[in-house]
Amino acid sequence: MKKIKKAIIPAAGLGTRFLPATKAMPKEMLPIVDRPTIEYIVEEAIESGIEEIIIVTGKGKRAIEDHFDRNFELEDNLMKKGNFELLDKINQSSKVEIHYIRQKEPKGLGHAIWCARKFIGDEPFAVLLGDDIVQAEKPCLKQLIEQYEETELSIVGVQKVSDEETQRYGIIAPSVMKGRRYQVDTFVEKPALGTAPSNLAIMGRYILTPEIFDFLDKLETGTGNEIQLTDAIQKLNEVQVVFAYDFEGKRYDVGEKLGFVKTTIDMALKDEEIKDELMRYLIQKLEKNKLEIANFKSLY
Ligand code: UTP
Repeated sequence: MKKIKKAIIPAAGLGTRFLPATKAMPKEMLPIVDRPTIEYIVEEAIESGIEEIIIVTGKGKRAIEDHFDRNFELEDNLMKKGNFELLDKINQSSKVEIHYIRQKEPKGLGHAIWCARKFIGDEPFAVLLGDDIVQAEKPCLKQLIEQYEETELSIVGVQKVSDEETQRYGIIAPSVMKGRRYQVDTFVEKPALGTAPSNLAIMGRYILTPEIFDFLDKLETGTGNEIQLTDAIQKLNEVQVVFAYDFEGKRYDVGEKLGFVKTTIDMALKDEEIKDELMRYLIQKLEKNKLEIANFKSLY
């Protein structure tokens, strides 16, 4: 069996939901407390046993490369000050080899993955999207890799979403279920409201066999005028089983504003340095706004 050693992190999207913040800064570099979102993703890959990562970047994404590069001046400064804790923090990603490839135009997630085909070659591989951060006892990607080791077939991470949310995701039509693993009849990208075949949404973690590139090669643009990964997965599933796995853990949607703010609050409440003061602030704020809260509650 071929081991999963390589991962693709696509990061060439325009990040329009965070404009104007993302006009000159990649959305993957927006910080959750004190770490850019992409660092959480790289950390999950490392903890799942990934040895090499390729980040698909695009125009205006130089800050990502700089972030994962060594900064000798800063290291020297921290060393002289004896700040070894920070020194360790800024060099976390040196535990993995990171490569970069440019997607010249943001033609969609499917196209971004296709851009990394030469790096992947003829091996199964992982894909992690920066829009989803998962906090779990066992890293989400590791859960999927263990499923791959049982099946040696492609597998996508899914979780349940509400009826209203299904139109924002790739949705599966599940058939046979074994534990948390599903066989899938069809994969549909962003179904129109009320037409989703289930509430199981694809959540930005994938293990794919290299055969996916045969379909990405031929794919035309789909929903949103983009080359969709979900469409290629649907085609692959017609000739080679693609499973879905309802992974364990709390998923944070950092790809949109409200999700990003909620994630920041949750992560800050786990940060030893600031959690008590933040909790005090939140309680104070709630107490001050008791009347507003009562009005809000009466509305819903
Ligand atoms: P999204 O659609 O969530 O990201 O794509 P976006 O396009 O950057 O964000 P909005 O919708 O404009 O706010 C999911 C992932 O796929 C990458 C994105 O960087 C993101 O990590 N992506 C998307 C690419 O790498 N290339 C593309 O052409 C499109």
